[in-house]
Amino acid sequence: MITAEKTSFAVIPALRGLIDTGKPQERVAEARRRGRAFRQSFLEQSPVFYARRRNLLRIPYPSIYAFLGVYAQRYRKPYMVHLMASMSIIQFVDLQGELRTLLFNPHDYETGSDTPFFRRLANRTPKFLIGAIAPSYSTVLKELDAVGLRPEQIDYITYDHLHTQNLRRWLGDETRKAVFPNARLLVHEEEWKSVQGLLPIQADWYCPAGTEGVSESKIITFVDSMLLGQGIALVHSPGHTAGNHSLVVRSPDGIRVSSENGVAADSYAPEKSRHGAIRKYALETGMEVILNGNTQESSTNQYVSMILEKEIAGADSVSGFPNVRPSSECTPYWMFPAPVSHLFGADEFGTIRL
Ligand SMILES: [Fe+2]
Repeated sequence: MITAEKTSFAVIPALRGLIDTGKPQERVAEARRRGRAFRQSFLEQSPVFYARRRNLLRIPYPSIYAFLGVYAQRYRKPYMVHLMASMSIIQFVDLQGELRTLLFNPHDYETGSDTPFFRRLANRTPKFLIGAIAPSYSTVLKELDAVGLRPEQIDYITYDHLHTQNLRRWLGDETRKAVFPNARLLVHEEEWKSVQGLLPIQADWYCPAGTEGVSESKIITFVDSMLLGQGIALVHSPGHTAGNHSLVVRSPDGIRVSSENGVAADSYAPEKSRHGAIRKYALETGMEVILNGNTQESSTNQYVSMILEKEIAGADSVSGFPNVRPSSECTPYWMFPAPVSHLFGADEFGTIRL
C-alpha cells in the first residue's frame, strides 16, 4: 500500500480534516465556508488539458433510494428510475510537471460484478427483459480506443466509491496480468478499509471479492482531500459511503464536481425542481439537498458533504443548477420516468495528448 504522502499530490489546506464537530447547523455553515474558500483558490488554476465523459450502461434503481424522503408519503410514485453509469478520461499535468492520464469510474461491468442487490434484481426479472431494462452502450476499452489511448498510458484509476466495482481485470490478480499495467488506484483510506470488512448493510452493494488478489503496490490511499495536479482534485465527501470522494475538475467554464451523493441536478437544488414531488418536499421540509440513500452510512455527513460539493461547484452556466454532475445520473428512458429538470450527460473539452 502506498500512502498519499509518498506521492506528488498535495493536501488541500482549506479542506483539511473532517467537518464533524459542533452542532449540525454549524457543520453546514463550516462546509459553506470551506467550500467557498476552496472554490476561490481552485478558480485560479488552469483547466485540465482534456476531459471526456461518456455513458456506459443504465442501471435500474429504486426511486425511494435515488431521492431519499421525497416519495415516503406519496401513494403514487415511480417504482424504479434509471441511473446512467458513466466514465471519464482526464488528462492533466501533475505537481511535478508530468502529463498524467486518469480514468474516473471505469466500470468493468463485462466481467460481471455479482453485486448482491443487482444479482437478486436480475434473478427476479424475466431473462428476455434484462437487455431492455439494463442496456449497455459502450465499454471502458472501447472508450479508450475511440480517443486513441493505449491501456499502458493510464496512470491512475479512481472511483468516487467502490460500490459494484470489480478491479481485478484492470489491476491484475494472482491469475491474470493487469489490463492497465501502469495504473494505480486512488482510493480514500476509509473506503479501502470498508471493502476489507463489510457489514451486510454495505455488502449488498459491493462486488464480492472485487479487490481480491490485487497487489497492494497498486493502491494509493489518501485521508484528506488531495490536489492531484493542475485543475484536478479529489475531495473527501463522506456520506453515501464513509470513504466517498468527489472528483473536482477545473473546466474552461468553471468547476465541475462529480460524485454519487446525489443523482440529479435536482438533488442539489430541489427547491428549483420542475418536479412537484421533489420541489414540494424541499419547500415543506427545508431540505437544501436530496440524498441518494441506498446505504446511508451517515446521512448527516452526506447532507454536509453535498452542501460542500455545491459550494465548490458554483452554478452551471447553462441550467443555473449547481454544477455537480452526478457520476450516476438519473436519466430518462422510455421504460422509466426520470424526475430531473436538467440533464448533464456526456461531454468533452480540451485536447488529448497521445
Ligand atoms: Fe453507490
